[in-house]
Amino acid sequence: MQFYLDSANPLEIKTACDWGVIDGVTTNLTLLAKAGPDMKAALDAVLDASPGPVFCQVVGWKEVDPLVAQARWLGAYSNRIIVKIPMGVAGITAVRILKSKNARIPLAVTAISTVAQAFLAAKAGADIAALFNGPLDLEQDDTVRIVPAVREIFDRSKLPTKILSAARFPRGFGEYAADGSDIITIRMEFMKMLFEHSFTDKRMQGFLSDWRQVHQDRTWPAGKPKAAKLK
Ligand code: E4P
Repeated sequence: MQFYLDSANPLEIKTACDWGVIDGVTTNLTLLAKAGPDMKAALDAVLDASPGPVFCQVVGWKEVDPLVAQARWLGAYSNRIIVKIPMGVAGITAVRILKSKNARIPLAVTAISTVAQAFLAAKAGADIAALFNGPLDLEQDDTVRIVPAVREIFDRSKLPTKILSAARFPRGFGEYAADGSDIITIRMEFMKMLFEHSFTDKRMQGFLSDWRQVHQDRTWPAGKPKAAKLK
């Protein structure tokens, strides 16, 4: 499973790269707009900072031609860009046109909220179905658990489309991963939460306090150890 950071902030991307955990970066219109008024400079900064592919969304929703034209421009701008096309009749039509005439451009259908939408994206030939399960989880009472059904349908129908889940909290992250997501993306404030748990903190405090009672602040020596004597 691949792991992406959802960000258009080069400092956040660098931090996640330093942690050694991300394969690439997803962006959306909100994140890129936040990065400033120079849209090309904002995209270039993400491309420079990302260790791999960068998801970039076309602007618009209801008209096919602008979606197709922008996807072609983005596909020609960098071969590391995966173009995000919005879910809807125009988006699905754009995917079909692009896949028949510009098969080389990797396409993700974004803002997918149901199993049916994921199926339509795959039927049109999208490389990736971007499920908004994490954001949806914040909107409703029930847990949004659509990955198992999408996985089952894609596998049974031999649809090669990959499943991307947009995660929020650690519980959702674990579920989406175990349910068969191929990619999970997450914003930095939620990525930080994945490293933490109150029980981990409790055990570490216990270990260190037991050690200090005997050894104070001593640690194992740094540097090359002398070979142990054979007895
Ligand atoms: C994923 O690819 C998206 O960029 C992101 O997760 C969307 O989430 P949002 O609802 O926070 O914009």
